[in-house]
Amino acid sequence: MFDSYTLPSGVTLKNRLILAPMTNFLSEEDGRVSEKELTYYKRRSRGTGTVITACANVNTQGKGFDGEIGVDRDELIPGLKRLAEVIHQEGAKAILQIYHGGRMSPPHLLPDETPVSASAVPSEREGAATPREMSEEEVSQTVEDFKQATRRAIEAGFDGVELHGANTYLLQQFFSPHSNRRTDKWGGDVWQRMTFPLEVTEAVKQAVREYARTPFITGYRFSSEEPHTPGIALEDTMKLVSELTERGLDYLHISLRDFHQSSIRKEDDGSSVIRQIRDQIGDDLPLVGVGEIRTKEDAEKALETVPLLALGRELLIDPDWAVKVEKGQEDHIVTEMDMDAQEELVIPEPMWTNIMSVPGWIPRKV
Ligand SMILES: Cc1cc2nc3c(=O)[nH]c(=O)nc-3n(C[C@H](O)[C@H](O)[C@H](O)COP(=O)(O)O)c2cc1C
Repeated sequence: MFDSYTLPSGVTLKNRLILAPMTNFLSEEDGRVSEKELTYYKRRSRGTGTVITACANVNTQGKGFDGEIGVDRDELIPGLKRLAEVIHQEGAKAILQIYHGGRMSPPHLLPDETPVSASAVPSEREGAATPREMSEEEVSQTVEDFKQATRRAIEAGFDGVELHGANTYLLQQFFSPHSNRRTDKWGGDVWQRMTFPLEVTEAVKQAVREYARTPFITGYRFSSEEPHTPGIALEDTMKLVSELTERGLDYLHISLRDFHQSSIRKEDDGSSVIRQIRDQIGDDLPLVGVGEIRTKEDAEKALETVPLLALGRELLIDPDWAVKVEKGQEDHIVTEMDMDAQEELVIPEPMWTNIMSVPGWIPRKV
């Protein structure tokens, strides 16, 4: 867990532990990094080798949350620079997660109050807005926006970017047969639906070649399946993953609710999804795992399958988790939220209220 790890680009992470990307609702209304956001990251950057930030929108149409961090304009670079510095001061590598919310963006955050997507199909959640289908020009511009977001991350001093191709947002929407019904070059069969994610990946790699003067990390996060029909099946993801392994990335990052979970579409198949993905990728490209890791034993077991491990909610509950494990103080790890410790844990409002209002999301100490 505490051995260093060198990624394909040559960047060395001091250990195998990563702060998972978590939206914190703490940025200024215009997407600038806020002071309280800096204190939140400072509190959780000690001990883990790498910090992946909350998702940052690459253009105004892609903003998906109130208080979301932006990377859509050059004027945001000074704030992003301070964020990268804070993470570095605590000894971790800093990766900016870049994304576009697509049809998941709430209308009130958008310029014309209408979300966009691959096709004009709303998501299955109740009350979802019907998005407008993006024009071919808009799709090409969005590819360019991901490239420019990467340039800004480089200029701000980040060590890398992670493309957020998971959790139902725009990159996934183009790959999904549910949200992508296009008949132009951006849609069609499973291979054609990869066009947008792969062109974005190439544009990001191009930005790295053009602007980075030192090795720079490029990761890609994906969700392996969608529950609805039509929806992404594990076989589709295997094809995407095999294409992504050819793209010169530093890592793939699977987004799972539970690290050990089996298929959500094939209930009779009990085999672990992450193992199947790992077998598909092979050893050449590192896979990052995540999901319900709470104890040292959980992490040790997970690291038998993947070389790198992200922890999300556990590092909200106990930001000293990695430091404690490294010092052999794992008995002191806290796995349930102390409702009196908001200040000590540095989870400022409105993040605290938002995360605690989702039933069952954060286990509480009673
Ligand atoms: C408050 C919160 C915000 C999240 N925001 C993001 C995000 O911005 N990007 C992302 O890829 N995943 C996001 N996730 C998912 C986490 O990265 C992680 O995959 C998930 O929480 C499961 O890991 P855990 O059991 O260790 O928490 C978020 C999770 C939480 C709890």
